[in-house]
Amino acid sequence: MEEPARPVSHSQTTITELMVPSYANFGGKIHGGILLSLMDKVAYACSSKHAGTYCVTVSVDKVDFLQPVEVGELVSLHASVNYVGRTSLMVGIRVEALNVKTNQLKHTNSSYFTMVAKGDDDKPAMVPKLILETREDVKRFIEAIHVREIKAATREQMDDARSSIDVERAAELLKGERCIILYK
Ligand SMILES: CC(C)(COP(=O)(O)OP(=O)(O)OC[C@H]1O[C@@H](n2cnc3c(N)ncnc32)[C@H](O)[C@@H]1OP(=O)(O)O)[C@@H](O)C(=O)NCCC(=O)NCCS
Repeated sequence: MEEPARPVSHSQTTITELMVPSYANFGGKIHGGILLSLMDKVAYACSSKHAGTYCVTVSVDKVDFLQPVEVGELVSLHASVNYVGRTSLMVGIRVEALNVKTNQLKHTNSSYFTMVAKGDDDKPAMVPKLILETREDVKRFIEAIHVREIKAATREQMDDARSSIDVERAAELLKGERCIILYK
């Protein structure tokens, strides 16, 4: 039996974490990998709340680090299910960092995680329909459909481009690029 539909608000999740010194790179800023790991966690929490089952990350779209995050800042990751397919869910994540001394809040990145719900048999499982309660919910759902279409088209273009690469013409193709070909 199909699970009842759930509203976007049911699974909206925020994780807040203090950026401690052990998260920093040699430049004193927070490692991108720390933020990616937190994004994966919040995507899991949000998608599994909606699905009512265990979910796995299948794809990550658009991860741009817009501004560095500093040690001592409070990072909040806001996640929301933007779209559901049959067994997949697209979770939108907005990351913000708060400087507690100055109260300055900066948007450091946004990303989309595609998660797939798994059943007890470890196979992809049907997810509940999404109830869109606001115009913003509707906008995000339509946007996610576009993202899926663009991704599918890009995948096809990349496959075509990859299959048409002619390594024998490398010297000509790579003229002006900042690389050196060593083999003859
Ligand atoms: C996720 C997984 C089960 C999908 O398996 P599959 O054989 O492609 O299954 P399906 O073809 O039935 O696809 C399942 C859903 O995933 C979606 N999907 C599969 N690959 C995708 C991709 N690269 N990007 C976006 N969605 C994808 C399909 O569109 C489908 O969605 P829908 O049911 O809503 O239409 C499989 O790829 C897997 O187990 N991957 C490893 C996931 C994992 O372990 N992640 C943790 C990091 S190691």
